[in-house]
Amino acid sequence: MASVTSLSDSVQQQLTSALTAARPEAAGADPLLRRSDRADYQANGILALAKQAKANPRELAGEVVSRVTTGDLIKDIEVSGPGFLNITVGDRAIIENLAARYADDTGRLGVPHAEHPGTTVIDYAQPNVAKEMHVGHLRSAVIGDSVVQLLEFTGETVVRRHHIGDWGTQFGMLIQYLDEHPHELDHKAGPDLQASGEEAMSNLDRLYKAARKVFDTDEDFKTRARRRVVDLQAGDPHTLATWQKFVDESKIYFFSVFEKLDMEVRDPDIVGESGYNEMLAETCRLLEESGVAVRSEGALCVFFDDIKGPDGNPVPLIVQKSDGGFGYAATDLSAIRDRVFRLKADSLLYVVDARQSLHFRMVFETARRAGWLNEGVKAVQLAFGTVLGKDGKPFRTREGETVKLVDLLDEAIDRASAVVREKAQDLSEEEIAERGTQVGVGAVKYADLSTSANRDYKFDLDQMVSLNGDTSVYLQYAYARIRSILRKAGDVRPAARPELELTAAERALGLHVDAFAETVAEAAAEYAPHKLAAYLYQLASLYTSFYDKCPVLKAETPAQVENRLFLCDVTARTLHRGMALLGIRTPERL
Ligand code: ARG
Repeated sequence: MASVTSLSDSVQQQLTSALTAARPEAAGADPLLRRSDRADYQANGILALAKQAKANPRELAGEVVSRVTTGDLIKDIEVSGPGFLNITVGDRAIIENLAARYADDTGRLGVPHAEHPGTTVIDYAQPNVAKEMHVGHLRSAVIGDSVVQLLEFTGETVVRRHHIGDWGTQFGMLIQYLDEHPHELDHKAGPDLQASGEEAMSNLDRLYKAARKVFDTDEDFKTRARRRVVDLQAGDPHTLATWQKFVDESKIYFFSVFEKLDMEVRDPDIVGESGYNEMLAETCRLLEESGVAVRSEGALCVFFDDIKGPDGNPVPLIVQKSDGGFGYAATDLSAIRDRVFRLKADSLLYVVDARQSLHFRMVFETARRAGWLNEGVKAVQLAFGTVLGKDGKPFRTREGETVKLVDLLDEAIDRASAVVREKAQDLSEEEIAERGTQVGVGAVKYADLSTSANRDYKFDLDQMVSLNGDTSVYLQYAYARIRSILRKAGDVRPAARPELELTAAERALGLHVDAFAETVAEAAAEYAPHKLAAYLYQLASLYTSFYDKCPVLKAETPAQVENRLFLCDVTARTLHRGMALLGIRTPERL
């Protein structure tokens, strides 16, 4: 793999050695290099170093400057303000750096792997069996999928876990009803996944409502249903087989939604709550024997000094109820053991609604006390905020119900298709439909990914499919425009011309392309796709100003045409790669 040292890293190395030569005791200190408006980069780490060494910062900065060899890389370096360093890199270095990225035939644009990749188990996209998927499930799926792509790109081993809600007392009623009405889940749809998915969900929904009705009005049915809960927990084969029908039916629906979301979810990665049943009793035993959990009024509980309810009494984590039943917490604690000891994870990541933060705080703390989590194994909840409607309240339909994910995606696709149609010049109906889907789904994903996950965000379709502003459509159009220029160039091929002098717009674009590597590294390390989204938006904006100011096909000399086509192409590749890391398509034509 051809990994490329970024310009900022090369500059940073030179500064560090100059600094070390000037002050041996400061060896290895970080000069804190940043992109800057004044010059290409600014280093402001000298201030803190001077303070430490009780030296005059401007003087120290001057000593560093005198030890930097200017040349192709650092063209100019000067002291500014109280002791900052302003650094300008050479045009040649910019183009040569981009050319090396362009030559990387792995499609990674020279981005290196992380130095010490590990194993992350990521828990995301976890809907519930026999229930509709809602916008909260959308967030987990979209954010989780992007984090998977980012981590894998850095060389991390990623194990995906879709912790679906497939266990619990609610199944007693459903199983009993289905046994009494065995044809309720029959299908008419053929091999079309979307149609079967819809049918599956409407079957499940109808069955759920019908079962509920009998359960609430018929005491005998209620008794039969409760008995089925006991049978289920005891592992009665017939009861399990009926339960499995619900799981399978739900999976048809889940897969149809994930397909619509243009997202890969693999069956073996779906390990729901039921997948940990065999471990629950042992988890409780381990916790009780080690004294991490104690019996309180018959229930097995873990207490925390700092977690109290509104009445001031401690709120425990209940691992086992007094009737012997296990709940959500026992399952999550067992899943931790599985992920740490069997899957050998060193990072556990949970992409789950912020409203479950207290649960995870207690679960993680319990696991730490039990020794399952420690300095070598960390657990993090990537908590996401609520999806709000235009009115700023939790997103609901006009009737006050939670919004079905599928309806919302369909609406986004409709709006996006209208936008595509309006701008379409040479697209067929079929192409408009395909692009409409890619633009619509991309718009929803981008809106979700471009704000930091922990914030609530407003679901505003008009804004999401707008061509102006921080939207995926804007980025997709930027990409398609570049591809169209490259097509128009015909036989003239993009080629790096390091001997040329660059304009300010070309330099700004080039330096930003170079920063892709560090952006991806940061976004992956911090589980922060929004940083990549912000980077890509800026990339598209810088490209737009480059394109406004610098004629490409009509540039002055043939060499300049080639070099600008090259800048176009390396920008397109970066956009394409970056969008893929967000799970968003970049159509060739729009
Ligand atoms: N199924 C849950 C829900 O819909 C999310 C599961 C989160 N993951 C976990 N390990 N608890 O809210």
